[in-house]
Amino acid sequence: MFSYQMGTRIEFGIGRIGLLTAILREAGFGRRILLVTDPGVEQAGLVAPVIEALQTSGYEVAVFNQVAPNPRDIDCEAGAEAFRNFAADSVIAIGGGSAMDTAKSIALLSQTGGKVAEYVDGLKVYERVAPLACIPTTAGTGSEVTRSAVITESATHRKMTLKHALLRPVLALLDPALTLSVPPSVTSATGVDALVHAIEGYTCKRSSPITQAFGAAAMKVIVPALPQVMENPGDVQARSDMLQGSLLAGLCFGASDVAAVHCLAEALGGLYDTPHGLANAVFLPHVLRFNVTGHEEIHAELSRIMGFATADTKAAEAADNLVRSITKWVKSLGIPNLRELPKVRTEDFDELVELAYANGSTPSNVREVSREDYREILMQAYA
Ligand SMILES: [Fe+2]
Repeated sequence: MFSYQMGTRIEFGIGRIGLLTAILREAGFGRRILLVTDPGVEQAGLVAPVIEALQTSGYEVAVFNQVAPNPRDIDCEAGAEAFRNFAADSVIAIGGGSAMDTAKSIALLSQTGGKVAEYVDGLKVYERVAPLACIPTTAGTGSEVTRSAVITESATHRKMTLKHALLRPVLALLDPALTLSVPPSVTSATGVDALVHAIEGYTCKRSSPITQAFGAAAMKVIVPALPQVMENPGDVQARSDMLQGSLLAGLCFGASDVAAVHCLAEALGGLYDTPHGLANAVFLPHVLRFNVTGHEEIHAELSRIMGFATADTKAAEAADNLVRSITKWVKSLGIPNLRELPKVRTEDFDELVELAYANGSTPSNVREVSREDYREILMQAYA
């Protein structure tokens, strides 16, 4: 039993950004646009040409760039206020997952008010959301095609997930040229995040044949392309493969779920503000090693898909190859271990365990995971 829903128009290709205004018109976007981005993307020069194109076509644009690496509820509320002050009618996000998730929250809060926590805790219902177009500038989050946004509650460090079909962007415009200037540390971390989306979306308890098809396609592209991009950041084909892989991974986990890697990563991000992709990359090998036990067959499938085993390799051996190969792959991308990340202290492990265990995606993990298991994985990642 499964259901799959996708209402997002997807436009992909080099130079696709040039079609933005024509597509907005076709999609029925209004004339007053709140453009959500972050200062880094603005400094990279990616925003100014879009504003110019919009204004030339008769759009009024206000820019909101109060976007944190781990998006905060207070910024989403400020963005909703900016939307109302400008009398905007639609939202465009240009940036990584943080800008897109902030934009989704703004598109919601601007229409029916309240705070992010009230929707997450069921105190307010999702009724309507302003039209949203997403233009990703990193290859990783897949947020341009998902129905969720992960927002940190500033007061408690809790990572909250807004999730509703209405939050799916009307338009996802993916132009690989926009990802060419992403620095190496962000390229590697966001790229591993995309692979984690594919792995968790494929293996988790809420997967379906459709999400597994997207997940498998994503893994096949990402595993060879990410090292190529790290080697040669100007490799347009490899950048294009990564953006496509990230999109496919979004179509995978966006209709199933994430699992234990994300639960730990979101705990870390909530407590220390660790960038999301980096936190995922740190935990991926250790959660895989944990998950394989008792679930060799599905991990053998992953291993074959990624080219770490053949059809003839026995399940246990193929699954073992997966853990060893992914551990090496992550290391080759220059990902540090947990101990090397700023602020991380073993004294906080109790809190990290609680935050991870309370995450709504913990029950989705392919292998049942207890508080003690989370603690053990944290210790191994820190060793
Ligand atoms: Fe993620």
